[in-house]
Parts: sequence; C-alpha cells; structure tokens
Amino acid sequence: MTESANANIADYYDAETFKRIKTFADGKETPFVVIDTATIDRQYNELVEGFPYAKVYYAVKANPAQQVLTMLRDKGASFDIASVYELEKVLALGVTGDRISYGNTIKKSKDIRTFYEKGVRMFATDSEADLRNIAKAAPGSKVYVRILTEGTLTADWPLSRKFGCQTDMAMDLLILARDLGLVPYGVSFHVGSQQREIGAWDAALSKVKVIFERLREEDGIELKMINMGGGFPANYITRTNELKVYAEEIARFLHEDFGADLPEIIIEPGRSLISNAGVLVSEVVLISRKSRTALHRWVFTDVGKFSGLIETLDEAIKFPIWTDKVGEGEDCVIAGPTCDSADIMYEHHKYPLPLNLAIGDRMYWLSTGAYTTTYSAVEFNGFPPLKDYYI
Ligand SMILES: Cc1ncc(COP(=O)(O)O)c(C=O)c1O
Repeated sequence: MTESANANIADYYDAETFKRIKTFADGKETPFVVIDTATIDRQYNELVEGFPYAKVYYAVKANPAQQVLTMLRDKGASFDIASVYELEKVLALGVTGDRISYGNTIKKSKDIRTFYEKGVRMFATDSEADLRNIAKAAPGSKVYVRILTEGTLTADWPLSRKFGCQTDMAMDLLILARDLGLVPYGVSFHVGSQQREIGAWDAALSKVKVIFERLREEDGIELKMINMGGGFPANYITRTNELKVYAEEIARFLHEDFGADLPEIIIEPGRSLISNAGVLVSEVVLISRKSRTALHRWVFTDVGKFSGLIETLDEAIKFPIWTDKVGEGEDCVIAGPTCDSADIMYEHHKYPLPLNLAIGDRMYWLSTGAYTTTYSAVEFNGFPPLKDYYI
C-alpha cells in the first residue's frame, strides 16, 4: 500500500485552470484531450521573457491544431515545419514564408521546391545529398547545419543519432553551401526532447562556438545564426527545474561563448509550450488481478499507446495521473483498450492509483497537450483517433 494515490493537481495547474478544464470535460464521452489556450498564451509569454533575445519558431509537430497555430501566429511566433502538410496548415492561416523554417533534415527534393515556391528561404540540413537538393530546388536560400549532441542519456525523449552530423562534417557542409550559391547561415542542434540536464545546452553551444570560429578564421565564412531547437522540459512526474532556470543558464552559456554581441538566436519550443495546457480524460474499462494472490491490479483504460500515449514507450514520459477518488493507493499496471499486448503504458513504474478506483471512473492524464493528438492511430482495433477540444 502506498500513500499518495493521486498526482497533486496544484503541482501542475492553478486551481482555476483545472476547474475550467474539468467543468468543460464533465459529461463528454471519453477519451479526449482538453487544451486550455490561456495556458499556452501564458507559457509563450514566459518563454519570450526567458529568452528575450531569441526568435521563437513553434515546433508545429507538438500540436498542429488550428486554434494553437492561430493564437501563436497572432502572438508573433514563427514556425518550425516538418513536412509539406504542416506547411499547408500554416500557409492557410496567412503565415508568410519569411516566418517559416523547414527544420526537417529528411526531405524530398520536390518538397524543398514546394517550400521555396511558397516563399520559404530557410532550410535545415545535415547531409551532402540534402544540401545539394536544397541548392537545386531552393537556390540562394539560407541553410543551417544541424549537429549531433550528446544529451541522449538525460533527455526523456531523445532525438539524437537520427539527426545531425559531427562537427567536422558540419563545417564541410557549410563551406559546400557557400560554394553551391547558398547562404551558410548558421548551426542548429536539439539537445533531446524533455531534456532535464542544463549542461546539455552548454556542451552543444561549445561545439557551435568551434564551428563559428573555425569557419571565420579558416574559410572567411561569417555565420549569423544559432538555432537551439527545443528540448525545454514540460512538467511531468520526473521533476525538472523551472523554465526560468534553464533560460538563465543558457543565457550565461551563450554570453560565455559568444560575448555580449550574440548572433541571431532561434528557439523551437514544442513540448514546453503546449504540454501543460492539456488534460487527457479517459475512463476505466476494467480492473483485474492476474491471480488471487497477485500484488498488483491491472487497470485498463479507454486510452492507450495507440490513441495518443505513444510517448509511454519504454515508459519514457511519465504523465501525472489524477482521479477524483481519494484514499489509500495500491500500485497498478496501467494498460490501454486494444488487443495488442504492446498497449501497456506503465508496468515497471507502478502508479499507486486509489484502491477504491472503479470501472467507469475517470482518469485525468495531466500535461498531455503535446505529442498526443497527432500520435493517435486512425483506426487501430477500430478505435477512432483521440478527440481534442480547445477552450
Ligand atoms: C527540429 C525540431 N525542433 C523542435 C522540436 C521540438 O522539441 P520539443 O518538443 O522538445 O520542444 C523538435 C521535436 O521533435 C524538432 O524535431
């Protein structure tokens, strides 16, 4: 038996916000996620306050809902785009190409051309083949090269290995960019999503500094921009520092490496901007034990890995869970509703859900505004995609 059976709401939402979300959710058929746009508004302001010298390119992949994009457009954000489909979405809202960066290093030549034709002039790259495609399909554009970072072990959702290249190749690519008639504009990195270790930014910026200096001294190339990507953490069970602390430390690293006169700085927040605005509401479908003496209950709920909670893979992201039942808790395995045995969210990390939790009760998955709706399968086992509401 354990004591604290529920997440403490006050750690994640102020009372008024949670009440607003819960009142809206009451009576609606589960599962669904409710996103509180006022929270996004506040978090955006906090980011801008924390990084006053940086331009914010919202990572659309975190949540591409029209309500979110419109609001960020109106607040003056730019957009980090991963595909032509995301591009269409932001263009449809009247966002112009000069507020868009094509941040995916893996792209078809014809897609590069589409971005170019729509007025986009800033492209990420990490390979020669992609760079040559950019030179042909988007002549004269600005390119920034993404470097590999070593934050894999301390990020809960690491993005390393697949993206980026080593420093020496980054320099070769920037020189080649110049020779191909492109603008060698800068360097980018992503320290891994839900990165809790502030030192990851320090290590990445040290590499960027070397590239800036070497290219200036040895090749006469004056880089103009650092794209620090995303990675700023959201509030889940595994606690982190406050955003302010990351912001202060990162500013210190930047000034140590680049002096008072910083190059243009870009950040691409996704998770940190959106996660804490969302609450996913599910219903308990079944509770069972695997034997008469089993120590753990299995709690099956109507949302799972295939309906928005894919980031529970390897139990990487531990979402706080709240129910309105109070009292003693008991460690549970929590699983989804499909006929797939991979559809278990938490088995090693045992959540102590209240012992009196019953079939039909609601579970509130906190901090689920980012990377949930879009990860939901379209028809796995016949289940429809996760519904989303914006208040
Ligand atoms: C290029 C790029 N920028 C920004 C982000 C957003 O990262 P986060 O959600 O950790 O803020 C991602 C996430 O995958 C990304 O791939």
